[in-house]
Amino acid sequence: MDLDAVRHAVGEQTSPRLRRSLDQLGLITAVFPAAGGSVRVELSFPEGVEPPGAIESAVAAAARAAGAVEAEVVVRPMDAAALEALAERLKADRPSRPGSPGSRTRVISVASGKGGVGKSSVTANTAVALARAGHDVAVLDADVWGFSIPRMLGVQEPPAVVGGLIVPAAAHGARVISMDFFVPPDQAVIWRGPMLHKALEQFLDEVFWDEPEFLLLDLPPGTGDVPISLSQFVPGAMTVVVTTPQPTAQRVARRAALMATKMEQEVAGVVENMSWFTGDDGRRYEIFGAGGGQALADEMGVPLLGKVPLVPELRAGADRGEPAVVAAPDSEAAEAFGAIAERLASIRPRVRRRPELTVE
Ligand SMILES: Nc1ncnc2c1ncn2[C@@H]1O[C@H](COP(=O)(O)OP(=O)(O)OP(=O)(O)O)[C@@H](O)[C@H]1O
Ligand SMILES: [Mg+2]
Repeated sequence: MDLDAVRHAVGEQTSPRLRRSLDQLGLITAVFPAAGGSVRVELSFPEGVEPPGAIESAVAAAARAAGAVEAEVVVRPMDAAALEALAERLKADRPSRPGSPGSRTRVISVASGKGGVGKSSVTANTAVALARAGHDVAVLDADVWGFSIPRMLGVQEPPAVVGGLIVPAAAHGARVISMDFFVPPDQAVIWRGPMLHKALEQFLDEVFWDEPEFLLLDLPPGTGDVPISLSQFVPGAMTVVVTTPQPTAQRVARRAALMATKMEQEVAGVVENMSWFTGDDGRRYEIFGAGGGQALADEMGVPLLGKVPLVPELRAGADRGEPAVVAAPDSEAAEAFGAIAERLASIRPRVRRRPELTVE
């Protein structure tokens, strides 16, 4: 047995949630030869980040594949100082805030004037469609009071904490942070401006986002405190406005678009939701009227990114934690989300200048 080969193979095992190899994380402490061609591997790893036993079995399998007859794997818990050092290491090679100058992350706020038009459904499904197209995607549920993303995406494992860093939850290939993970089930979030501002700032800065290609922000309805705070924290974010086809909804959605413009945020485009319902007779029924999305897009001078039909499976899937793009990938709605994801991915954000340097 080649001990170096075993050491190498073991160090290359990655933690899916920490997105780094054990060597990169500096967590392998020792690899010893043992009797009869076996090895003993000692490592430290933070608790609660990976499912119980997952790291042990991955490491043992890698050691065997590299020639060890058997592998004994000992995982030692980490003390507070070691956890803090690991958090620092995780943060070291990345800009701290997604969307800050120099970051590759395209931050996209999903907004609407009115409630219930489908922002969260659009966010969840577009995120999963982007992930399925091979992009690295994360979602920040910025609807601090009315969070719905973890339920819609069927998140199973809560976020983990490493030192002072929150490691996001994940589902269907998208990483997720939401207030849902931090409030007890029967408690309401009754924060106003300053508390909201602080919570959103923590969600941006104290989460191990690790520079995704896309960070989707699911906004609460309307033009209140949350979009104002977010526009300050992530000035380069683009906005996607969701509306339904009827003119009244379009008028309200217009306010969200105008607000984005006022805060100098680029509007990436409009998504029209609930555009039609296809009956058993194969005909399309335009239950909420027609043309609102296109009219709003024309008025704003931005593209209509897509029209999403009313599909009962979309609602049922959201309630079960299976977004339509997963539960019914051949449905008209899933196709629409695939096209929206493709269009979003092809939009290049305006080039932002780095802030001017000040000389003291
Ligand atoms: N295209 C669709 N077909 C069927 N049901 C839909 C569709 N879009 C949204 N829904 C359903 O409508 C309801 C409202 O959607 P959603 O929660 O996405 O809206 P929202 O704009 O995020 O709402 P809020 O303003 O409360 O955050 C949900 O039950 C969702 O499953
Ligand atoms: Mg919502």
